[in-house]
Amino acid sequence: MKVIVFGGTSGMGRAVARRMVERGDSVFLLGNVQEELERSAEDLRARAQGGSVGFALCDLAEPDTFAPALDAADQALASFDTVVVTAALFASQDALEADIELTRKLVTLDYANTVVFCEHVRKRLLSRGGGRLAVFSSVAGDRGRKPVAIYGSAKAGLSVYLEAMDHKYHAAGLSVLTVKPGFVKTTMTAGLKPPPFAGEPEQVARDVVRALDKRKPVLYTPSMWALVMLVIRFLPRFIMRKINF
Ligand SMILES: NC(=O)c1ccc[n+]([C@@H]2O[C@H](COP(=O)([O-])OP(=O)(O)OC[C@H]3O[C@@H](n4cnc5c(N)ncnc54)[C@H](OP(=O)(O)O)[C@@H]3O)[C@@H](O)[C@H]2O)c1
Repeated sequence: MKVIVFGGTSGMGRAVARRMVERGDSVFLLGNVQEELERSAEDLRARAQGGSVGFALCDLAEPDTFAPALDAADQALASFDTVVVTAALFASQDALEADIELTRKLVTLDYANTVVFCEHVRKRLLSRGGGRLAVFSSVAGDRGRKPVAIYGSAKAGLSVYLEAMDHKYHAAGLSVLTVKPGFVKTTMTAGLKPPPFAGEPEQVARDVVRALDKRKPVLYTPSMWALVMLVIRFLPRFIMRKINF
């Protein structure tokens, strides 16, 4: 594969990028911090099994950076065929409720700008007969829940957009994978109390690469979360009002 990883400088994105170079894929990182990109590219080159490694600046907060970054990736990879998007912003519900500007920023990055980025990718992949797009949404988008009301609403919108892209463009050769992680131990969740079945980034990366290979449309990872969310999706409203999940 010739893969772009947007957000591959940390957490689950880094684990996906590592797994892909270790099996011989070429990887092109996108991120908004030059030093982080340089450090991550060096780490990937040390692990690479024949594939190339490159990077370019791309800021999820600045949609004007999307097209130039994708141009750079296209040039370096001689047309990318796979895109993985993990970049996103997280903040606790308390922090978001206390700061309207943070709320505006989070819903803009995690929903509006992520959709805009995916639209750039969709057009490029369809123009060359298709490809694979994997985007990290969240189990937080499956149901309105007290602790992730605002973040979850952005991920819910993103999940619906991705599902519709799969319905609309699957026959044209575009495979869209919605990744729905549960709680995974990364910098994003540092400081939060992990639940009993919290996952590790490497475990998620293995699941994501396998799902990409199989062109699956939806992935709950770690897999236990598929069961957890099945139950949560069917809980009646009077219970959702009482519990703090
Ligand atoms: N961890 C969990 O439990 C969990 C659960 C469900 C869903 N998710 C989702 O999974 C994805 C990956 O999360 P993670 O846990 O691996 O978090 P992470 O380690 O914090 O990774 C997030 C990535 O987003 C990048 N990013 C943030 N703002 C950006 C911007 N303005 N422009 C470009 N890149 C930006 C970060 O880059 P820098 O480090 O350079 O800022 C980082 O590489 C996210 O979409 C998250 O919402 C996570």
